[in-house]
Amino acid sequence: MYRTNTPNLENYWMPFTANRQFKAAPRLLASAEGVYYRDIDGNQVLDGTAGLWCVNAGHARKEISQAVERQLNTLDFAPSFQMGHPIAFQFAEKLAEIAPGEPGKKLDRIFYTGSGSESVDTALKIAIAYQRAIGQGTRTRLIGRERGYHGVGFGGISVGGLVNNRRVFPQVPGADHLRHTHDLARNPFTKGGLPEHGAELADDLERLVALHGAETIAAVIVEPVAGSTGVLLPPKGYLERLRATADKHGILLIFDEVISGFGRLGAPFAVDYFGVTPDIITTAKGLTNGVVPMGAVFTSSKVHDALMHGPEAQIELFHGYTYSGHPVACAAGLAAMEIYEKEALLTRASELATYWEDAVHGLRSRKNVIDIRTIGLVAGIELASRSEAAGARAYDVFVDCFKRGLLIRVTGDIIALSPPLTIEREQVDELMSILADALDRAD
Ligand SMILES: Cc1ncc(COP(=O)(O)O)c(C=O)c1O
Repeated sequence: MYRTNTPNLENYWMPFTANRQFKAAPRLLASAEGVYYRDIDGNQVLDGTAGLWCVNAGHARKEISQAVERQLNTLDFAPSFQMGHPIAFQFAEKLAEIAPGEPGKKLDRIFYTGSGSESVDTALKIAIAYQRAIGQGTRTRLIGRERGYHGVGFGGISVGGLVNNRRVFPQVPGADHLRHTHDLARNPFTKGGLPEHGAELADDLERLVALHGAETIAAVIVEPVAGSTGVLLPPKGYLERLRATADKHGILLIFDEVISGFGRLGAPFAVDYFGVTPDIITTAKGLTNGVVPMGAVFTSSKVHDALMHGPEAQIELFHGYTYSGHPVACAAGLAAMEIYEKEALLTRASELATYWEDAVHGLRSRKNVIDIRTIGLVAGIELASRSEAAGARAYDVFVDCFKRGLLIRVTGDIIALSPPLTIEREQVDELMSILADALDRAD
């Protein structure tokens, strides 16, 4: 228990948390700087997760807080429906500069949202609206993938593939799923590139076309690297094959880059990393360095322009949020982009990737480790589950790490690591050393 007085924990209903368990033994972070948090007693905690995959430039960046303060004192809020403010356009122009996509297919039309979940629902709605605008109004079906995570809106859980997020709630009619690509038997401890086996799983889209009819399918959405389910890398050739099949059947391809966007893989976006251009990407998190909630959907001109039809006085897309293009979020985002650019953070993970990969694979012989996967500055470490208690072992490792000054993230019995892109090699060593000891201690 903490020596410092803990706040009253009763009223806050915590998200994605075992509330009763947490409140019986809380973990409370009080401040942060660089790659470290401090808990309420002042103990240092290495941030092995960039907050929640979002604090890419590290914590307490003065450039961002100063930009936010300036914006708050200039224009704290302005409506975005039938009104505009300069910084929203400036930020979109900046994002368009780094937007990925091959020539002629650059994803440089930007729609703002307030979060990753809103970005996903926005992208799905844009896809359906696009199909209708080009005379394909029967295409309303949405395809996701097993084990996918696309946030918690009804659209996102419908295409998502994590059972706990789905079983309680009804879903958008017509959603269906590709099979996931996780294959421990054929691709264990993949090192030095993408998993060899599994490109053929992209042909699952053909199966769903044969089952439902292409003329009913608007879009397919995948995370290029599945994050929340425990870091699953796309098999070699998989994304290319998915792109080709989607094209063949007039289906839009959406990459959910809420995690992979803004440098996590060692390139600005997964689109750049893999060299496969979808029609739409969704982003959030690193968009503002996690400092102010915000998301953005990037689309190609093809998608955008198809909707710019009809009488000019007509609203083209009946969609948007009170906080779309919030001026303070735009200020934080612009400042974050300046840092990313100045410190070359959007490619820094590529410099550290080999060191990181070697360090994480150094845990291979630790107790209960059955797989390790890395890409850029991301790692998934899969543990054998205790019989009758899936997730319990990784949870114990998580609590042990936190007590010893390291924040990791666990999902089931998979540990996910994604430190700030500013992390130094010694800090990577520190992370691995605490984690290795915790793995050895866990029964
Ligand atoms: C791939 C992906 N999509 C969507 C989301 C949802 O983002 P948010 O929690 O900001 O709604 C997440 C969050 O982790 C994510 O990883």
